[in-house]
Amino acid sequence: MAELQLRDIRKSFGAFDVIKGVSMDIRAGEFMVFVGPSGCGKSTLLRLIAGLEEISSGTLAFDGEVVNHLVPSKRGIAMVFQSYALYPHMTVFENMAFGMQLAGKDKEQCRKRVEAAAEMLQLTPYLERLPRQLSGGQRQRVAIGRAIVRDPKVFLFDEPLSNLDAALRVATRIEIARLHRSMHKTTMIYVTHDQVEAMTLADRICVLRDGRVEQIGTPLELYENPNSVFVAGFIGSPKMNFLSGPFAALYEAETIGIRAEHLEIAEDGQWAGTVIHSEMLGSDSYIYLDIGAGEPVIVRENGTSRHQPGETVRILPEAGQIHSFDAAGRSIGRHIMRGAA
Ligand SMILES: Nc1ncnc2c1ncn2[C@@H]1O[C@H](COP(=O)(O)OP(=O)(O)OP(=O)(O)O)[C@@H](O)[C@H]1O
Ligand SMILES: [Mg+2]
Repeated sequence: MAELQLRDIRKSFGAFDVIKGVSMDIRAGEFMVFVGPSGCGKSTLLRLIAGLEEISSGTLAFDGEVVNHLVPSKRGIAMVFQSYALYPHMTVFENMAFGMQLAGKDKEQCRKRVEAAAEMLQLTPYLERLPRQLSGGQRQRVAIGRAIVRDPKVFLFDEPLSNLDAALRVATRIEIARLHRSMHKTTMIYVTHDQVEAMTLADRICVLRDGRVEQIGTPLELYENPNSVFVAGFIGSPKMNFLSGPFAALYEAETIGIRAEHLEIAEDGQWAGTVIHSEMLGSDSYIYLDIGAGEPVIVRENGTSRHQPGETVRILPEAGQIHSFDAAGRSIGRHIMRGAA
């Protein structure tokens, strides 16, 4: 069980500043997810926590003890990467036991730990197989198992599922959620690009932008009360609709944002538009409308939509679901609808 404190952590590679002052507390046993655009510093921050990169300035503490200069092996961490290298000539059992054997652990203890980890990850039937006899998802679970047997205080994941196909991602994601429940004393930090992974796995999500923390909160806090246009546009799929100019001026804002599920096609709608495209996903449909706002506005409808391209319709925002933002892109709150424009 470890609690992490990051205080004004900075990292530069030569003259290039990558992490520009990150402070946060990660609670013991918490599942923290880092998200952010490519290149914003997620992996670098994870590697600083792991001790694989040296911190340029600031302090990193585990349970109140500064670990800046502690080598990775002394930090009680285990890390699982996107590309996991298993030893091809060793069985699943041997791959999982290898690190412990190197560390001089007793044979019987090794066996017990490997068996327990295999059970947790549903790998028991495969312990005698070689990596090439496994599916991609099973191999990734072996890589996770290899980390579990080390009984880490802090578990770090860097996009562990991004090499898997859609179905395996879902199965392995559920496995990781179960793992967190059964290892509830282990703090987990997880980097992902995947919205659904972030929303479903996280106790809290940290949105990073260009080496800085943009917002930290529970998935629903970020979804319902994003503090900036950036977070509002980053969390949620499809992306939040943004309107500016006269649309926003009515709300005394520079930009307003509304999610597709908070818009409905209705005769007494506030804005008129033309249907330009519709996507039927089975369970619901996304209707793309041109309301003269520059970008198309997306409306979500349950089930199959009856609306055809070319049709003129009106759309109604749900009361209280319009987010408004100032010229700097900061949230200035949510608005109750003020009547038709
Ligand atoms: N060893 C290094 N030397 C110089 N620059 C580096 C080094 N490692 C990372 N960087 C730079 O730091 C920035 C952040 O990289 P990082 O890998 O942390 O991004 P990321 O958020 O994990 O991106 P992605 O989502 O693409 O994995 C990038 O601009 C990258 O080029
Ligand atoms: Mg990365």
